Amino acid sequence: MKLQEEFEGLFGNKPDLISQAPGRVNLIGEHIDYNNGLVLPFAIDSVARCAIRVRNDSKIRLASKQITGPLIECEISRLSEKNEPLWTRYILGVLWSLKINSGIEILVDSNVPQGAGLSSSAALECSVAYVLNEAFSLGLSGKELALSAQRAENEFVGVPCGIMDQMISILGKAGHALLIDCLDLTTKLVPVKFDSNNLKLMVIDTQAHHALVDGGYAKRRAQCEQVANIFGLSSLRELSMSNLQTKSGELEQELFARARHVVSEIERVKNAESALVRDDFKAFGELLDQSHNSLRDDYGVSCPELDCAVEVARAEGALGARMIGGGFGGSAIALVKDGDTGRIASAIERGFAKNNFKTPRFFDAVASEGARLVDGSN
Ligand code: GLA
Repeated sequence: MKLQEEFEGLFGNKPDLISQAPGRVNLIGEHIDYNNGLVLPFAIDSVARCAIRVRNDSKIRLASKQITGPLIECEISRLSEKNEPLWTRYILGVLWSLKINSGIEILVDSNVPQGAGLSSSAALECSVAYVLNEAFSLGLSGKELALSAQRAENEFVGVPCGIMDQMISILGKAGHALLIDCLDLTTKLVPVKFDSNNLKLMVIDTQAHHALVDGGYAKRRAQCEQVANIFGLSSLRELSMSNLQTKSGELEQELFARARHVVSEIERVKNAESALVRDDFKAFGELLDQSHNSLRDDYGVSCPELDCAVEVARAEGALGARMIGGGFGGSAIALVKDGDTGRIASAIERGFAKNNFKTPRFFDAVASEGARLVDGSN
């Protein structure tokens, strides 16, 4: 059913506004946002949508098309009690971080696969932030909206994520990746011309979700901060490879490797941007490969399913492939020649079956538009 009709059926009134905000793939620059470095994601065409109607009391009434069960109801003044089911926190957290003080009816819907490393949480948060900004004429910029969505996730949900996913979900532009400087949140659009060069960016959702995800992410963040402290720097963004090398004997091997990933990945992002600008997809693909190897060997965030997807894609002729997102499961991307996707997908499926992994899912990632209002008639 159409979101607008569903909303009317649930709440008895038409929604005031409906927004949508996308998930993302990150071309390159992984585990770099919280190190204040450069990242290069693009928004995909899977989106979360949020329909709202402002009430003239203080009651929040909330539902999700993906969750069956009674409506969630609470008072706007009691948001921070955090006693609702987990999925509601991504939504209520945004109301909290935007300091909304009116009652609202909210219905959300999403086709961003969950747990696939494609930022379904950021898509949901950003769809809520975007629609509230419009409904209450808050006048916040895209950057401010991204920051308040991140604050909801960090402080209300309790996930220590960086800023990349929210920035791209709000600010993505069709046909472009967004080079984000996570130090000052300045951005630059970079055209993505895969299609016109007969290339496709395949997404391979490994369907693997390893238990390490949460602890592993927070631990990597802490290790990066530790190395920055050792060098007396505010973040690893300020560390050069030659400076890092001066302490190669003193630093614990694992810490050294973590920092080497960050420093080398920031360089790869710069090179990837210039490769994209000059349509050098061979060089771009090689950078994807190097990024994966560094995430696997130095940063320790890959897993057998991601490595298998990447290795098979490369062996079958991909120009480059790598894991994306936080790691320990989720998705990989592979840049492949148009027409090769079916063959490569079958080979990956066979590789997964041989290893007794779950059956992977595949789709093409198309650089799409960021958050906006929609009419809800579909
Ligand atoms: C997750 C986080 C992001 C980013 C990536 C790794 O997606 O939400 O902030 O740190 O992992 O690049």
